Amino acid sequence: SPSWAEADSLFSLSVESENLQKQIDELASFSDTPAPSVTRILYTDKDVTARRYVKNLMGLAGLSVREDAVGNIFGRWEGLEPELPAVATGSHMDAIPYSGKYDGVVGVLGAIEAINVLRRLGFKPKRSLEIIVFTSEEPTRFGISCLGSRLMAGSEALLKALETTIDNQNISFVDAAKSAGYAQDPVDITSVFLKKGAYAGFVELHIEQGPILEEEGVSIGIVTAIAAPASIKVDFEGSGGHAGAVLMPYRNDAGLAAAELALAVEKHVLESGSIDTVGTVGILQLHPGAINSIPSKSHLEIDTRDIDEERRNVVMEKIRQSAIRIAKDRGVKLAEFKIVNQDPPALSDESVIRAMESASKDLKLSHKLMISRAYHDSLFMARVSPMGMIFIPCYKGYSHKPEEHSSIQDITNGVKVLALTLAKLSLK
Ligand code: GLV
Ligand code: MN
Ligand code: MN
Ligand code: MN
Repeated sequence: SPSWAEADSLFSLSVESENLQKQIDELASFSDTPAPSVTRILYTDKDVTARRYVKNLMGLAGLSVREDAVGNIFGRWEGLEPELPAVATGSHMDAIPYSGKYDGVVGVLGAIEAINVLRRLGFKPKRSLEIIVFTSEEPTRFGISCLGSRLMAGSEALLKALETTIDNQNISFVDAAKSAGYAQDPVDITSVFLKKGAYAGFVELHIEQGPILEEEGVSIGIVTAIAAPASIKVDFEGSGGHAGAVLMPYRNDAGLAAAELALAVEKHVLESGSIDTVGTVGILQLHPGAINSIPSKSHLEIDTRDIDEERRNVVMEKIRQSAIRIAKDRGVKLAEFKIVNQDPPALSDESVIRAMESASKDLKLSHKLMISRAYHDSLFMARVSPMGMIFIPCYKGYSHKPEEHSSIQDITNGVKVLALTLAKLSLK
C-alpha cells in the first residue's frame, strides 16, 4: 500500500538537514589541504578515511555494503522483488586539489539521507535501491576521469591501460589500489564490469557547478544531456641549456612551445564559434624548472569539451596540427601527443526525466531542463542503464575551488526530489 505517494506523506518527507550539513562538514575535514579547501585524492589515507566514514553511514542506514576490486562502494536496500534489476543512485567523494566540500559529496551523503527519508516514511521498495560511491571520478592521480564508472560500463581500453598506469610518483595503479585494501590477489579487474541490465535506472544528485539555477531562482535542474569531454597529454623536448650563455638564435625552448600551444588551444576553441566549446590547459610543467635554465622539457594537459561531439573533435584535430607545427617551427621534438579520453556525450533517459519532473512537481519545487557541462559518473552509467541527473543551485556557479557552496535548503530540496524519484522508479 504505497500510501507514501499521497499528498500528506509528501509533505512529511523529512530530511534531517542539520545532520546532513554536519556530515558534509565532517567529510570535508578529511582533506590534505587546509579548510575551506578540500583535497582528497584516490587511495590516499584521507580517501580511505572518507570511505570508512561513508560505509559506516551506509551501515547505519541499514544498507548491506560491498566493494569491488577498484573500490567502487555499493550499499543495497533489498526490495520486495530482489530479483528485479535495482534502481541506483550515487556520486563520488574524491576531490581535486584545493576544491570544495560539495562536488560529488552531495550525491553521496544526500543519497544516504534520501534512503533514510524513505525508511522513516515506512516506504517499501519493490526494486532494490542501491547507492554507489564511484572510485576516482576526478582524474587527479592517474589522469583518468570517471575511473570506477568507466570500468563498470565495461571499458576494455581502460582495463588495458590500467596495467601500465602510474601516478607522478611512479606508483602503479594496482599497487595504489592494494595499499587502500583493493585489487587483492588474484587481481581481476574485469570483475568490476557490470552485467548488462544490472540496473533499471541510475539517478545522480549533484550541484550544478554553473550559475543558471541560482541566477534564475530555480530549485531543481533536470539534466537532459551531459557534454562530451576529452583530454590530451602533450610533451615537448628541446636542448635546454644555460639561461645566460645560450643566445636566442641557438635555442629550442620546450617551454615556449608549450606556451604557444596553450594559446593555440584557446584560439581553436574560439574558432568553433559556439559558446558551448571550451578548452583549458590546467597542467603546464617545465623541466628542470629553474630560473636560469632553458626548459628542456614541457608537459601540458589539455581538457576540451562541447555539447557537440563532432565540433569538439575538430578542435582536437586542430590542436594536434598546431602541436606538430609548433614543434617544427621551434626545432623541438613533439615527444608525446596522447589522447587520454575522447568521450561522446550522453543523453538522459526519457522515463527517468519524467520521474524527476513528476517528483519535482509533487514537491512543488520549481524546475527546469538543462544540460550538464561538467562530466559525471552518469556519463558512463548511461551506457549500461537508463540515466538521469538532478542538479541543485550552487553559489555563483562556483566549483572546483574552495568557495564552492550550496545552501542546506537547496541540498534538502535535492534530497527530497532524489528520494521521491527513487521511490517512483523502484515501483515501476
Ligand atoms: C568533473 O569534475 C569535471 O571536470 O567535469
Ligand atoms: Mn569535480
Ligand atoms: Mn562531481
Ligand atoms: Mn607526459
